[in-house]
Amino acid sequence: MVMDFLRPEIAALEQNGITRVALTRIGDPKVIALWFGEGDAVTDEFIRVAAKEALDAGDTFYTHTRGKQALRDALKRYLDALYGIDLDPDRITVPGATMLGITIAAQMALTTGDHAIIVGPVWPNIESTYQATGAEVTYVSQRRSEAGWQLDLDDIRAALRPRTRSLFVNSPCNPTGWVMPAEQQAELLELCRERNILLIADEVYHRNVYDCDVAPSFMTLARDDDPVIVVSGFSKAWAMTGWRVGWVVAPSRHAETWAILSECFNTGATVFVQQAAITALERGEETVARLRDQYARGREIVTEVLGRCPRVELTEPQGAFYAFPRVRGLTSSLAFVEGVLAEEDVGIAPGYTFGPGNEEHFRLCFAHSHEALREGLERIVRYIERHDNEFDSV
Ligand SMILES: Cc1ncc(COP(=O)(O)O)c(C=O)c1O
Repeated sequence: MVMDFLRPEIAALEQNGITRVALTRIGDPKVIALWFGEGDAVTDEFIRVAAKEALDAGDTFYTHTRGKQALRDALKRYLDALYGIDLDPDRITVPGATMLGITIAAQMALTTGDHAIIVGPVWPNIESTYQATGAEVTYVSQRRSEAGWQLDLDDIRAALRPRTRSLFVNSPCNPTGWVMPAEQQAELLELCRERNILLIADEVYHRNVYDCDVAPSFMTLARDDDPVIVVSGFSKAWAMTGWRVGWVVAPSRHAETWAILSECFNTGATVFVQQAAITALERGEETVARLRDQYARGREIVTEVLGRCPRVELTEPQGAFYAFPRVRGLTSSLAFVEGVLAEEDVGIAPGYTFGPGNEEHFRLCFAHSHEALREGLERIVRYIERHDNEFDSV
């Protein structure tokens, strides 16, 4: 038998359900791909030009491991203006993509034997990231009600253990579109303060909200001495998923630790991409607004088409750009999305991969151009109607 060198925590990791399905047909032009968290339009030209100009100007060397000074300055101006705050610049780091910020934050706090709480339903990469630290993970799930998805903080309190060292919350939420209200954020922050639990607040969808300009944020609540790391990035608000650039706002006393860990993981984000990120911050408000309008219309199309299907229950998302509908009586979300892919050439993600209790659900991204989105939705409905007698009667 081959002696394997994998740590048990790493050996135990499983491919998530999104890629598990998508990798079978990725790049196939026949597929309407609504499985990933991005639209089908390329990043705006003025942002692409900024990257090209930086390259041509020779911006190809190592830079500060917490990110270019000019980018951190631009982030301070952006965040100060957006949230009406005066951020200590030592709190800002650009280690690479948003996902890398989450990975480093989790590694900072957790080790084998620790316990962590993840608010679900949740994007599956978060679970893998937490599990890779060696910590044991408990899901606390939002619940669906007439008023939409909601989180009961008593469920969090009930899940706490003496070794709970971190709590992960993503608002606006992928996949449910839940937006955590500011009062509840304040209450959760108080709990984390009392217990000295690292709160990782994933706010990568901070500008993808439909009833206001920006979602309620821990940025306006967390003090420098709080156990909070807010993680965000450029992927979703400016449609820059492939650029792999994001930022964290963390306690200033850890600035050097962020520099060290950033050096270990990626030695900062790609340098000419950082120049494009500055341009997005300084000139990208129209882009953010235009994309928001496009996604808002996408959300209407989802509600309209899925609303015609009695077997589907949809809670309207307040933020992010996903629908997470329930198909009443569904027994295998994986078999369902595989069937939709095979018979209708539409790519969606199975509910099971977003944490326990989601087997009747699937996720689709509505950031796509409207014609493709509508066609994809019509085909999903057609599939459900054709297979209606195969669902459990509920
Ligand atoms: C909840 C959540 N957090 C983090 C990320 C990662 O963002 P990035 O691609 O900027 O690393 C995503 C991407 O889909 C996400 O949905």
